[in-house]
Amino acid sequence: MAPFKPNRVVVIGTGAVGTTTAYTLLLRKRMPELVLIDVNHQKALGEALDMNHGMPFVGGVKLWAGTYEDCREADIIIVTAGASQKPGETRIDLLRKNISIFKDIIQKITKYNQHAILLIATNPVDILAYATLKISGFDRRRVIGSGTVLDSARFRYLIGKHKEIDPRSIHGQIIGEHGDSELPVWSLANVAGIDLGFDEAERKEIFEDTKNAAYEIIDAKGSTSYAIALALDRIVSSILNNEGSVLNVSTLLNNYNGVSDVFLGAPCVVDRSGVREVLDLPLSEEEQSLFQQSADKLKGEISKLEL
Ligand code: NAD
Ligand code: LAC
Repeated sequence: MAPFKPNRVVVIGTGAVGTTTAYTLLLRKRMPELVLIDVNHQKALGEALDMNHGMPFVGGVKLWAGTYEDCREADIIIVTAGASQKPGETRIDLLRKNISIFKDIIQKITKYNQHAILLIATNPVDILAYATLKISGFDRRRVIGSGTVLDSARFRYLIGKHKEIDPRSIHGQIIGEHGDSELPVWSLANVAGIDLGFDEAERKEIFEDTKNAAYEIIDAKGSTSYAIALALDRIVSSILNNEGSVLNVSTLLNNYNGVSDVFLGAPCVVDRSGVREVLDLPLSEEEQSLFQQSADKLKGEISKLEL
């Protein structure tokens, strides 16, 4: 019998997103082993120590500040390292800084690990997930961007608030770039299979609030962290428990609604293999055209990169 290997998740980048994600994974006991890595090792050490002091209240998770060698035994490696937006900056504005950080990080990971699922959160997430695929040479199913999982949650929250209905009962999704060119799929949004009945003005207000949510939070408190941590936890859970949940992660699209060779958020079946399948969406003509525009925007940015 093969020796038992406990599931291990590695979080790279112990800033606002990385630490909140690690803490969420810890509270939900998603895995027996959790490793924190940061270029600022002191920061990772401090965060690990702080979380370890909570272990008598939680238990069951071995957590430490590690090095890239600890990636060897990892099942999922979550990358949250890199620059974040300052007020007024777009996600795309981060590309130049974060692409060079990524070239370094992905090479360090692949030196030790060729089998894990790489889960990318750093922005611009769709382009960095694409770059990760190219740099790592991993199978496309095992390179996943957090995509529009967070945006879809914001969308469902806002619809739920308007309707005074639990957002978990709202079916609605955002697709495309995790960023300014994303789009809502109003043609399929529903509660209990019933159309939501919004007029144009209500639709516009809900979508604008969804799209601008991060700008609003960054203006108010400097960064976003809680909801993205829960979104990453949701993706990790679907992978490690082989759930097959449908989540709008960012994945490499191939002839999907006319779009190829770019990562975008779309409904994906996520299980232990990573992205098992991308579900076909019967988009309206207008949605189809917006989706294509989102793809064209990101492809334009990708074409400027040396990958
Ligand atoms: P932060 O500044 O708080 O933390 C970034 C961390 O990365 C720091 O601890 C820093 O030391 C570390 N780092 C920098 N270079 C590194 C390297 N080469 N190797 C290892 N670690 C390195 O930033 P944050 O608020 O945690 O945001 C991190 C990223 O996540 C940003 O790009 C942000 O835009 C993105 N983000 C994405 C989503 C999403 O939905 N995908 C949501 C929120 C934030
Ligand atoms: C978000 C980040 C900033 O919260 O991408 O949407």
